[in-house]
Amino acid sequence: MLTLGIETSCDETAAAVLRDDTVLSSIVSSQIDIHKKYGGVVPELASREHLKNLLPIVREALAAAATSIDKIDLVAVTYTPGLIGALLVGVSAAKAIAYARGIPLIGVHHGEGHILAAHIEYPGIGYPYLALLVSGGHTALYHVKDLGEYRLLGQTRDDAAGEAYDKVAKLLDLEYPGGPVIDRLASEGNPEAVKFPRGPREGFDFSFSGLKTAVRNHITLFKNKDRGIEPALQVKDVAASFQAAVVDTLVEKTLLAAKETGVKHVVVAGGVAANSLLRKRMGEETNRRGMTLYLPGMGLCIDNAAMIALAGYLHFQRGERSGLDLNPRASMPL
Ligand code: KG4
Ligand code: ZN
Repeated sequence: MLTLGIETSCDETAAAVLRDDTVLSSIVSSQIDIHKKYGGVVPELASREHLKNLLPIVREALAAAATSIDKIDLVAVTYTPGLIGALLVGVSAAKAIAYARGIPLIGVHHGEGHILAAHIEYPGIGYPYLALLVSGGHTALYHVKDLGEYRLLGQTRDDAAGEAYDKVAKLLDLEYPGGPVIDRLASEGNPEAVKFPRGPREGFDFSFSGLKTAVRNHITLFKNKDRGIEPALQVKDVAASFQAAVVDTLVEKTLLAAKETGVKHVVVAGGVAANSLLRKRMGEETNRRGMTLYLPGMGLCIDNAAMIALAGYLHFQRGERSGLDLNPRASMPL
């Protein structure tokens, strides 16, 4: 069975082809260079770029999978959450393909796609597991009991982890998206240079806005008083200290959830799962406790359509499908 996956929820236009649960092709076209000069994603520009790029990207994915549109059996598309105009482009294209070809259509929740990305690399992964979903739009911890059964244990009360990276990068006059830049700078800085707050200690909820404010205050302080510290060194230290605070919180909450639920398997998903310190620390801590960590490769952490195709395929196998009245939704809980 061949599934075509389509993803246009934010600033990546992506298409992928799967044979059953095996990825035959996965093409991602990033709009980062277009949005960079504005310091973040401009929704209207994103929609226009998706409109321009989606069909060429679908054709490229079909060609890379050595197949054609008339061989596709199922179309899976991200329909929530995301920028409404951006989602509309993918959903409209998917509906048109399904209608024209008379094949089934299935709408996929972007967050579920991120979580299930782990199944592409680890097909044998068994339920239950804990899923830490950390991206530009999400920061949540789920107890995943089965496909489609996501019990929310905790989530951010304000900014998502990726959003905090992007905002702190802006404060430090660094490029968008902030995650990869801060990650790189942090590796050269001292994580103990500044003691930033770790957010709520109790329960499984996260909060990153206090941390962001602490970084802003620190920068203001630094800019006001010339303490004679070399600026380049200072930025690296702030980046490293900020990253240490984010990663400490993410790791600590995940371990606490493992302790309380008794679940020994952990999946880390979403764009922030590409973070080198998070990967390292989560690996060490889970290993020490005899737990198993499932970390998708970098290409599967950032937005892609292979994860959307897989989620659609797995749900379709259970007899689920969407109607041609599928509409995009800006937000929706998993
Ligand atoms: O999953 P994703 O590609 O898009 C959303 O669904 O939001 O995640 C993008 C987010 C951005 O906020 C970006 O700064 C962050 O992931 N990110 C990282 C890293 N690479 C990307 N954050 C920390 N460290 C990284 N290496
Ligand atoms: Zn995403």
